Amino acid sequence: MDFISVLAIFVALPATGFLIWWLIIETEGVYLGKRMVILLYDLYASRYDRIKQFDEQADLTLISQPIMARIHPATAPLILDVATGAGRLPLIMARNARFSGHVIGLDASRRMLKVARRKVAAERFERYITLMRHDAGELPFADNSFDVVTCLEALEFLPDPRAALREMCRALRPGGLLLTTIRIDTRWMPNRAWSEARMRRELAALNMRDIQVAIWQEDYSQVWAWKAGESELIGANRREEVLHSKPPRQSLQNWHPLRRAKLN
Ligand SMILES: C[S@@+](CC[C@H](N)C(=O)[O-])C[C@H]1O[C@@H](n2cnc3c(N)ncnc32)[C@H](O)[C@@H]1O
Repeated sequence: MDFISVLAIFVALPATGFLIWWLIIETEGVYLGKRMVILLYDLYASRYDRIKQFDEQADLTLISQPIMARIHPATAPLILDVATGAGRLPLIMARNARFSGHVIGLDASRRMLKVARRKVAAERFERYITLMRHDAGELPFADNSFDVVTCLEALEFLPDPRAALREMCRALRPGGLLLTTIRIDTRWMPNRAWSEARMRRELAALNMRDIQVAIWQEDYSQVWAWKAGESELIGANRREEVLHSKPPRQSLQNWHPLRRAKLN
């Protein structure tokens, strides 16, 4: 083997290794398409909680309690958690003693939902939580259906974050609360992870107001916003009606009743 070939191998091997690491681990398959993201989450699902090591007390203090404080005096909101994963947000809401509402946790990964379902059953939280398998890009609900919509650590992994955010705001009732997140370091996910300025622009264009960005943890900031307008609380009692509602015509391009939610 001549010198040039040896040099080429020395350069190509680490470069290929780096590319694979970046595509599969660092960016969780997002540049390889939706199916790859979901496949990887299906593969990680049984290890997800161990890898993430969520601090339950911190989540209560920094997520669940601030949601309850912002919607006060309501205690029984209907919440949609988009890309719910292993059920982090539904569980911390259900564990909050002041919460008597209901969370619909939606995710595209069958195995992430299986882990979530196991945890919901272990804590007997079925009356507070419904889990459903569905794509975040086209939510299967009518406009203005939820009091609160959340999407934590997930927007940048969705095939079209703009479309997903538009859907979340559509499903939120006027006067409803949105909580989502942005990555602090956006360098490794070009065109996927949004800066604070970009997030503010996107939300303002979607008729969201009072946008607040707060540093949350090492990797992410929280983004809070309210949908402009006022309307009455939807409430947990209307969850069946909302679960069987239909999205408006313009959101129906890829919607089909057979692909509708698999509920728990
Ligand atoms: C980093 S996890 C976040 C999970 C949860 N929100 C949390 O904070 O633990 C990202 C989640 O997005 C889900 N996901 C990825 N693409 C999706 C899509 N197109 N529709 C719905 N969920 C999707 C994955 O299955 C995964 O559970």
